[in-house]
Amino acid sequence: MKITGSVREAREQVKKWKKEGLSVGLVPTMGFLHEGHKSLIVRAAAENDRVVVSDFVNPIQFGANEDLSTYPRDIEQDKRLCEEAGADLIFHPEPKEMYAADFSTYVETKAVSGGLCGKTRPTHFRGVCTVVCKLFHIADFDRAYFGQKDAQQLAVIRRMARDLNMDIEIVGCPIIREKDGLAKSSRNTYLDEEERKAAVVLSKAVFRGEEMMKNGERKAAVITEEMRRVIEAEPLARIDYVELVDAGSIEPVELAEGRVLAAVAVYIGRTRLIDNFIFETQGGEL
Ligand code: PAF
Repeated sequence: MKITGSVREAREQVKKWKKEGLSVGLVPTMGFLHEGHKSLIVRAAAENDRVVVSDFVNPIQFGANEDLSTYPRDIEQDKRLCEEAGADLIFHPEPKEMYAADFSTYVETKAVSGGLCGKTRPTHFRGVCTVVCKLFHIADFDRAYFGQKDAQQLAVIRRMARDLNMDIEIVGCPIIREKDGLAKSSRNTYLDEEERKAAVVLSKAVFRGEEMMKNGERKAAVITEEMRRVIEAEPLARIDYVELVDAGSIEPVELAEGRVLAAVAVYIGRTRLIDNFIFETQGGEL
């Protein structure tokens, strides 16, 4: 496995592989890799001849008062995990390699970005789309892998790829959870012992909502009210949002019909965590 911080070197390596007739998958990450990322890399390695993992804490997707400077980083541990999972190249650039001092071009998907996390993080998805678009332009990848945990991000990237005719397959991969249900996330490391216990309330709420839909409940207001009730029972939890939206457009729905996303964002102490599930009905039926 190789590692490079250079756009030119990453591009040359992928070009060489493509010339040899090999398929290449990309797993975009911000590093501090965990089992969730590993599952993406393993899947990419199973579906492509070569796998590139980008490991870059993207400054432009953090708001002014967010955790850019404290975001956890550990490139040595990332290298070990990538090697084990079957990656061939880690692309680990410095911010100045990705953004010239006078960088001024951004990519934005208007519709899908506005709701859910977009309400409290108004420039976040513009930063995500811009960096992902740049990665897609660095080399001719066949597929790119993203976790379903960031469901809105996945919807935004699918929309960007469709709208801008990007010739790449976007692959969404299932949420990987801790034993107690908490969705794996690099931000879980911010939690102290008490907060870590409290954080399980996100998955509890998500599982409760899913159960209600499986049992036939369709009214979004009834489902989200019950999910809120579960979260509010935890004193350390403060709700940012609990919503049922269309999984593709991220527009709020009144009824759980078609393909819907039930999504929650909750502060546990000062740490903001997200979780979700996707529920599909056919013609309104299970
Ligand atoms: O999901 C993430 O880790 C980031 O938002 C991504 C897609 C790597 C872009 O920086």
